Amino acid sequence: MRIDIVSIFPEYLEPLNVSLVGKARARGLLDVRVHDLRAWTHDRHHTVDDTPYGGGPGMVMKPEPWGEALDAVLADGEGIPELIVPTPSGVPFTQRLAVELSAAPWLVFTPARYEGIDRRVIEEYGARLRVREISIGDYVLAGGEAPVLVMTEAIARLLPGVLGNAASHQDDSFAPGPMAALLEGPVYTKPPSWRGHEVPEVLVSGHHGKIARWRRDEALRRTIAHRPELIAGADPAAFDKRDRAT
Ligand code: ADE
Repeated sequence: MRIDIVSIFPEYLEPLNVSLVGKARARGLLDVRVHDLRAWTHDRHHTVDDTPYGGGPGMVMKPEPWGEALDAVLADGEGIPELIVPTPSGVPFTQRLAVELSAAPWLVFTPARYEGIDRRVIEEYGARLRVREISIGDYVLAGGEAPVLVMTEAIARLLPGVLGNAASHQDDSFAPGPMAALLEGPVYTKPPSWRGHEVPEVLVSGHHGKIARWRRDEALRRTIAHRPELIAGADPAAFDKRDRAT
């Protein structure tokens, strides 16, 4: 997969050199290219923003640098990417959306600062390629760079070969499948006893059926405690009589 990111703070994207995403890049599984939007400005001050038409507080990102930047990025590749515009006014970023985006060969992210990008940029590229405006949650950040880090990591770990153990994202919280809509339960490792706290007996029993059932009960309990609305939205067929007792 190829990912292009156009930003006025390219250094904000440096964490993409580290850890899982950094390793995926080093191994050639992911091609990330970060571009400085100001490279496509032509005035002495490298201006990227201006006051909003209609008045109001804050500044709006000018369309011209974005147009030149996106034209250059699009011209430098095979095929047509999807354009991902991080904005608190977008559709919610979910695991389902991460899975969908992980199947795309090429994504271009346009993290904005200030009050956002002049709408005509979305109109212009919306006519040529798929544009998705995406929010990572109901809070307002200072810019789209942190959302790009979040989305890139969620997508990259789904790419074939990126995770050591391919099964390790199968039972993630929110992963599609029979456990859908349940949060992951607690996990334990050695030692068996720590400061008087014991690992639950069932986990050292070696009884795989009982372990699976225990994990499911714990997942259900945690979901009820932290995200009761997920239970209401789940498929009733995902639950059995024992669940109802939990
Ligand atoms: N830019 C600012 N806040 C954001 C959010 N919550 N999601 C995506 N982009 C943003």
